[in-house]
Amino acid sequence: MYGRRMRTRLAVFLAGVLPLTVVAAPAQAAPPTVALGSVIPAPVDVRPSGGGFRITARTVIEAPAAARGVAEQLGEALRLRVVGHAPPRTGKIALELGKVNGKPESYRLTVDKRGVTLRSATTAGLFNGVQTLQQLVPVSGPRTIAGGEIIDYPRFGYRGTMLDIARHFHTPGEIKRHIDEISKFKVNYLHLHLSDDQGWRIQIDSRPRLTTVGGAAGTGVDGVGGGFLTKADYRDLVRYAASRHVTIVPEIDMPGHVNAAQVAYPELTCDGVAPPPRTDTAVGYSSLCIGSETTYRFVEDVVRELAEMTPGPFIHIGGDEAHATTQADYLTFQKRVLPLVTKYGKTAYGWNEIAAAPEANVAVAQFWSSATQNPAVAAAVANGTKVIMSPANLAYIDQKYDPTTRLGLSWAGYIEVRKAYDWDPGTHVTGVPESAVLGVEAPLWSETLRSLDDIEYMAWPRLAGIAELGWSPARDWESFRTRLGAYGPRWAARGVDFYRSPQIDWAS
Ligand code: ACM
Repeated sequence: MYGRRMRTRLAVFLAGVLPLTVVAAPAQAAPPTVALGSVIPAPVDVRPSGGGFRITARTVIEAPAAARGVAEQLGEALRLRVVGHAPPRTGKIALELGKVNGKPESYRLTVDKRGVTLRSATTAGLFNGVQTLQQLVPVSGPRTIAGGEIIDYPRFGYRGTMLDIARHFHTPGEIKRHIDEISKFKVNYLHLHLSDDQGWRIQIDSRPRLTTVGGAAGTGVDGVGGGFLTKADYRDLVRYAASRHVTIVPEIDMPGHVNAAQVAYPELTCDGVAPPPRTDTAVGYSSLCIGSETTYRFVEDVVRELAEMTPGPFIHIGGDEAHATTQADYLTFQKRVLPLVTKYGKTAYGWNEIAAAPEANVAVAQFWSSATQNPAVAAAVANGTKVIMSPANLAYIDQKYDPTTRLGLSWAGYIEVRKAYDWDPGTHVTGVPESAVLGVEAPLWSETLRSLDDIEYMAWPRLAGIAELGWSPARDWESFRTRLGAYGPRWAARGVDFYRSPQIDWAS
């Protein structure tokens, strides 16, 4: 099945990440180290060598001014001082900006007994290397890092997760803590589902009732999910995410999933009558009025204001489950709305239903279907549409792990850790070759979620597996489950409420 080159690459890859790769112990009994490469997501190329570097209270982090931000983050995590230049013979972790191999986001990490050198052409690459380095520092005991070299870069540029703050609002503080956690696994996009039938969660100056009504107390599923992001909150989140090399993707879901907007602005319905507010979890009953110019003035105002406050490349326009919109109306709507996103300088992104529209040829379709065949998506891909893989039966991290899971839904099936991990985004859908796949995303819908603990319990550990599918060149369940088991104490130490799957032998 694999050619010789592939086998060799796989062997090098597995040698780096399998638990057998215990670092050779030097003569005087060495304290345990984390095997080089025993990292999630698994690095591309790992070459262990003897020796290793012990971090002491005198160790410093050396970094040029341009890398100061990421160096300070490492300094805070390891409780080490950051300097511009370390005196000679000081044990140091040196961050360098310079070419590695020309691949986006790549880094090289070298460890020997004199110190650690982390090199990348970009601060994004240095950030990635810092996440790797932190996982190589033992959770407890002497802080000795195994010797050797890692050269690493991602398989896909887009490694994402989604948080639904429409069905239940999650505060900026909670979102920031979640950003801290996702970025440790090199997840670099956070898609925020900002509007739905039950609530509207982002301030839009030209339509203030969207949030004064749609984000009021009592909105959300069961009436317990009220709240919204002001523009200042959103901009602050964008900045915070950027400091962790995470890009925010805002979503306004339309032409369906718009009940909250219609409660606030009844002119968005065809009869001009406000529907009752909804706090249940039904889907597919609302639609913007496709034949009305009022609709397009509304959509353009929203897209313009979102684009103004979003430095990232994507505006997500939803497009899923528009069951109250005829297909002809759906296509009419997309013909107007997909080009609007381009008009405001962004790439349109939508759930895979948008693939039916010819104007989606310059858009990104988020594949959420549980099927592996979808002729409309395959035809769109042949026409230029790019795809992000989020198959509901594998990547929806709001689905229960098993029938006993207290939180979540199960309409797409139960998704245990292995199921979320053991699939290939590059070959999953017929007619969608790897060259058309920008990456993967694990959506977290929040009908049943109330707290940050709830978010964490559904996300972890599955999101770590999806992150590995997005980053690593090959997957190996036995290796992953071993590395995941060893990671557990890190989540525990940070107070992250993760699911202790029985498929994993968790270290304590
Ligand atoms: C979806 O789950 N309705 C995209």
